[in-house]
Amino acid sequence: MAEPMLQLRGLTKRFGGLTAVDRVDLEVYPGEVVGLLGDNGAGKSTLIKMVSGVYHPDGGQIFFQGREIRLGSPMDALELGIETLYQDLALAENLNVYANIFLGRERTKPFLGLIRVLDHANMHEESEKVLKRLEIEIPSLKSQIKHLSGGQRQAVAIGRSIYWNAKLLIMDEPTAALGVQEQRKVLDLVRVLASQNIPIIVISHQLYDIFSVTDRLVIMRRGRKVAERRTKDTTPDEVVGLIIGSEEVAQQPAGGPPAD
Ligand SMILES: Nc1ncnc2c1ncn2[C@@H]1O[C@H](COP(=O)(O)OP(=O)(O)OP(=O)(O)O)[C@@H](O)[C@H]1O
Ligand SMILES: [Mg+2]
Repeated sequence: MAEPMLQLRGLTKRFGGLTAVDRVDLEVYPGEVVGLLGDNGAGKSTLIKMVSGVYHPDGGQIFFQGREIRLGSPMDALELGIETLYQDLALAENLNVYANIFLGRERTKPFLGLIRVLDHANMHEESEKVLKRLEIEIPSLKSQIKHLSGGQRQAVAIGRSIYWNAKLLIMDEPTAALGVQEQRKVLDLVRVLASQNIPIIVISHQLYDIFSVTDRLVIMRRGRKVAERRTKDTTPDEVVGLIIGSEEVAQQPAGGPPAD
């Protein structure tokens, strides 16, 4: 059996008297798409923020590629290859596509032997390569971000994560603000990444999306993980029941990599 890329053991986070995440165990394997589901306030974002270095756990452990990690900040997570995409994507509106992919890590070249200037040709070429690898089509990489659609922006953000060697991608509500066709494209992109062995955790309230893109589902309620299912072994009805708590909580083991 493959080693899990990410393993959470007993992860816990409290805010004052509230236990937002309560002793959650979770495993994510290479190439797997895992959906994290639960009602508003169930603890989904808090859970992933511990994995992305935003919050420090009050209990439990995080293992990444087989070894325990302690994240002091989001930079620590990025350095390990844990990339998180939130709804506000933190792209620079007035810069073009390739400048965004290299934002903060710009390529330069020597000029007249005295100074260094931005190497636009190199950044353009490298960006083209990564977008192609992801089957992302953007008419011109010289377009400013503000002229792109929501789906294309999402694609640029994903491209940037991948270029900088994401080993695990976490998406918190990636399609919430998108049109139907754009949602499709982002979901297709998730599948392309998974086929390149990059695991993805997706949080979404859109059950249709979740069913079309995931291999496995993890359901949280009031901070606890209450169920885990292989996507092909469950139904939206059952999942809704688990989210709201009307279904009996029958833990069905669903760990392990997707069987192929
Ligand atoms: N920074 C914070 N300070 C205090 N309480 C918080 C904080 N962040 C989250 N909470 C509380 O923790 C609980 C879990 O919140 P969280 O944002 O993880 O839920 P969620 O499952 O992501 O919900 P949603 O689907 O609405 O995004 C909620 O009760 C929330 O009010
Ligand atoms: Mg949330």
